Amino acid sequence: MFQALFRAKSPSRDVFDRDVFTKVFQLPDDQIHNLEAGRHHEVEMNSKYLTNFERVNELTAELTKVLDEVLAKDSQEIEQFDEIGVYQWLRDRLFTASTRALFGDELLKMYPAYCEDFFAFDSDLLSFFFSLPSFMMGDAFRRRRRIIDELERWSKKMHELSGGTPIDPEGPAWEPIFGSRLNRARQLDYKTRHLTPRTGATLDLGLTFGLASNVIPATGWMLMHLLNPSADPSILPRIMQELHEAETPDGSLDIPVLVSQPLLQSLWTETLRLYLDALVTRNLTEDLLLPLDEDGKRIVRLRKGENVFAPSWLGHHDPVAWSSPGKSVAKEFDAERFVVRDAKTGRESFSVGGTAGKYFPFGGGKTVCPGRIFAKQEALGALAMVLLRFDFEVLGFVDEKQKPAEAFPGLARAFVGSAVVVPGGDVRVKIRRKQMCR
Ligand code: HEM
Repeated sequence: MFQALFRAKSPSRDVFDRDVFTKVFQLPDDQIHNLEAGRHHEVEMNSKYLTNFERVNELTAELTKVLDEVLAKDSQEIEQFDEIGVYQWLRDRLFTASTRALFGDELLKMYPAYCEDFFAFDSDLLSFFFSLPSFMMGDAFRRRRRIIDELERWSKKMHELSGGTPIDPEGPAWEPIFGSRLNRARQLDYKTRHLTPRTGATLDLGLTFGLASNVIPATGWMLMHLLNPSADPSILPRIMQELHEAETPDGSLDIPVLVSQPLLQSLWTETLRLYLDALVTRNLTEDLLLPLDEDGKRIVRLRKGENVFAPSWLGHHDPVAWSSPGKSVAKEFDAERFVVRDAKTGRESFSVGGTAGKYFPFGGGKTVCPGRIFAKQEALGALAMVLLRFDFEVLGFVDEKQKPAEAFPGLARAFVGSAVVVPGGDVRVKIRRKQMCR
């Protein structure tokens, strides 16, 4: 059914987007009008600078360069760290690296608390969407205003430093003031579409959401599962083997090799299957017939004007869809779920065969997530850099209130549809630099 919904030409996400613009970003009507009128600009920019293979590779190269610097600093100081929460540690470093890769060097210098503020905003987001009153969430209202104020201040300063206009997106792949080609193209586009600096700042916050709110917790879950002392002990050594195969002689990563490794791909796919809670929404601009079963014998007619919701959680957790022999049940994490072993050669490959309509972490159709290629490179690249550089000794678990806990972290409390659900706790570790580290 969801496949047919995504394939259909007429359903749109405009109603949902308008709700985000009014309730979450509080944009005035004239700005929403300008945004909607120029929507095709965004689609063009995304296909030019976000889904284009060469451009994604440039973004990933910048991200891994910055992460390398951040982790190199840790390598010098890490021995002094006492026990730390591995998710919290990774979250802050990956936020720094991805923000600098996309937005340039100055943003976090001007607004060092952006990471802290952003993740608090991320957990408030659906409360804005459901229009909870300000007396119930005063801090959240103040924080949202502060983030947008700071992003606006940053953008104005960067325009000044760039002499009024960002450097041509067709120029260097990255430059320190406005960062990536994508960001420079977006900043130019805000002007073309008559969007005010304040509207631009809210869109920059929206892009930060795309950049950080799914990939960072997903990378955290992957790392925590690999370190979990109760996990299958054969998984981590096999992952390390795949990581070493993707290392080049100069110690950098061959990203195309990395993202094609069977077990790593399975780990990524399983993490999105189990932990993503996306509510993909469509509004119907005309009546639509959708099949209710695979052979299309039962059909439902949906009426023009209705909203349709495709919750990833249902398909991703369907006990029937995910119960094949030799695989764990749907509610369990199984890093090897998508690995297929050739009976004769023993060769492993990655496959999502048979999951169509049950697995759609990036939505589908004309508004399918344009960041999906970068997301995978970012997550697996970061995981590789961390595991190749450090050893982790697991000391125990903590719960959401950072109190010692017996069990591996579960899900943080969140509204339905909160993207990749963040861990409700952490894995406490002692980190040591690997001996062979550069
Ligand atoms: C694991 C990581 C990610 C997940 C699970 C994810 C998921 C999604 C989903 C479900 C949608 C809605 C799709 C639809 O309506 O059919 C979406 C849209 C979007 N995502 Fe992602 N996303 C991820 C990473 C990223 C990244 C890294 C970026 C940018 C750097 C990004 C940028 C966007 C944008 C701009 C849209 C709106 C597209 C449009 O309206 O045309 N996403 N994403």
